[in-house]
Amino acid sequence: MGTDLLCYSVLAFLCAAVSTQFVPPYTEDCRTGMYPPKGPTFKGAVTWYTVDLDLPPSKRWTGVITDKKADLVIMIQAIKDLADSFVPSGKLIELVDKGLPLIVSTLPSPFKEEIKGIATVSGVPLGEIVLFNIFYEVFTVCTSLVAEDADGNLFHGRNLDFGLFMGWDLKNRSWTITEKLKPLVVNLDFRRNNRTVFKSTNFAGYVGMLTGIRPHTFTLTMNERFSLDGGYIGIVEWILGKRDGMWMSFLTRSVLENATSYEEAKNRLAQTKLLAPAYFILGGNQTGQGCVITRSRVLSLDIWELDKTLGRWYVLETNYDHWKEPLFLDDRRTPAMKCMNQTMQAKLKTIYDVLSTKPVLNKLTTYTTLMEVSKGRLESYIRDCPNPCMPW
Ligand SMILES: *[C@@H]1O[C@H](CO)[C@@H](O)[C@H](O)[C@H]1NC(C)=O
Ligand SMILES: *[C@@H]1O[C@H](CO)[C@@H](O)[C@H](O)[C@H]1NC(C)=O
Ligand SMILES: *[C@@H]1O[C@H](CO)[C@@H](O)[C@H](O)[C@H]1NC(C)=O
Ligand SMILES: *[C@@H]1O[C@H](CO)[C@@H](O)[C@H](O)[C@H]1NC(C)=O
Ligand SMILES: *[C@@H]1O[C@H](CO)[C@@H](O)[C@H](O)[C@H]1NC(C)=O
Repeated sequence: MGTDLLCYSVLAFLCAAVSTQFVPPYTEDCRTGMYPPKGPTFKGAVTWYTVDLDLPPSKRWTGVITDKKADLVIMIQAIKDLADSFVPSGKLIELVDKGLPLIVSTLPSPFKEEIKGIATVSGVPLGEIVLFNIFYEVFTVCTSLVAEDADGNLFHGRNLDFGLFMGWDLKNRSWTITEKLKPLVVNLDFRRNNRTVFKSTNFAGYVGMLTGIRPHTFTLTMNERFSLDGGYIGIVEWILGKRDGMWMSFLTRSVLENATSYEEAKNRLAQTKLLAPAYFILGGNQTGQGCVITRSRVLSLDIWELDKTLGRWYVLETNYDHWKEPLFLDDRRTPAMKCMNQTMQAKLKTIYDVLSTKPVLNKLTTYTTLMEVSKGRLESYIRDCPNPCMPW
């Protein structure tokens, strides 16, 4: 109950804060012909890096971090400035620098070694890298969908929207943290024995996964679930010493790295105890294999599957339980479904069109990823949402 109240008061605060700036809920007709990406909503391509799983965990991120160090430092500075604006005096960051390094040793392998390696290579204090890694577990609002075409091919698309509440820039009408994150978006090719195990779109410096594909086997994305049953208590409990759940994005990473079938992925995502509620959007490699798993911390509340016999050729998730109405202030689901219903076909380009339609595309949208499991394909694009555009 507490979390729910907090959520709504934060939202109310936010609305008051931004209402002077923001145009009424901005929607538009379903976009068409947006693919291949171009024009003002396409800010740039994403660079590929290899992460070699045969290296010791502390060495795996050296290439990525060496390249992205400067952007990571700018990002961390922005987080610190933000923290200072809430709690002036630098006390919060002092706490992060002193307290969070102690948390690292409690994290499971290979995550703790990887995080330490990232701190070493970047020169950023360990506690701040830990903070950066916890960050995404908390404020990610997204749109994800899995769709099946007439031949049984599965497609998976997602917008990663991040940075809500993270410093609204009045002049630029943008979110400070969202803008700083864009240069950190990378495509990763995780290899073992010099062969791809899985691919992911991620933020440099972050070791969990939010978006990924195990080629020819499954595709997976994770969305935040704001809910009554636990909220972020699990994360606080972890910090205080009660550690019986798993970090959500660590589970996603672990499933991408080690699950070898759709069914195995589904079972692990549905059954592993978590630190906070989440939605997992999973696509397989055969007809009918696509679902949204709605999770509480302890168990799977619902698995909503593709079912062509019911006319359900796609499943789509934003940040609300599919059997409930979305919050009226934040309805990206209705426009996204309306556009999917209009296209009536699952293709990378139609999915890109849907994900390019405001407010599915909004000021928080950092990147769009498209995946096609049968081709082992993952492609990502950095996004921009020119005015007029919804802040979320
Ligand atoms: C705001 O926009 C200006 C001009 O486009 C840019 O130079 C500046 O860095 C932006 N500020 C932020 C905080 O993104
Ligand atoms: C890994 O594979 C690439 C091409 O797929 C090849 O060029 C390279 O030599 C291989 N490296 C090793 C160590 O086998
Ligand atoms: C995947 O499995 C291997 C072998 O059991 C293990 O060493 C590794 O830590 C696992 N990866 C993750 C991310 O859990
Ligand atoms: C689908 O995944 C299963 C389980 O990993 C695998 O055995 C099968 O070959 C895959 N099918 C295709 C068409 O790739
Ligand atoms: C889209 O189509 C589905 C299935 O026919 C229907 O349940 C849903 O209400 C439609 N949504 C919108 C927004 O048109």
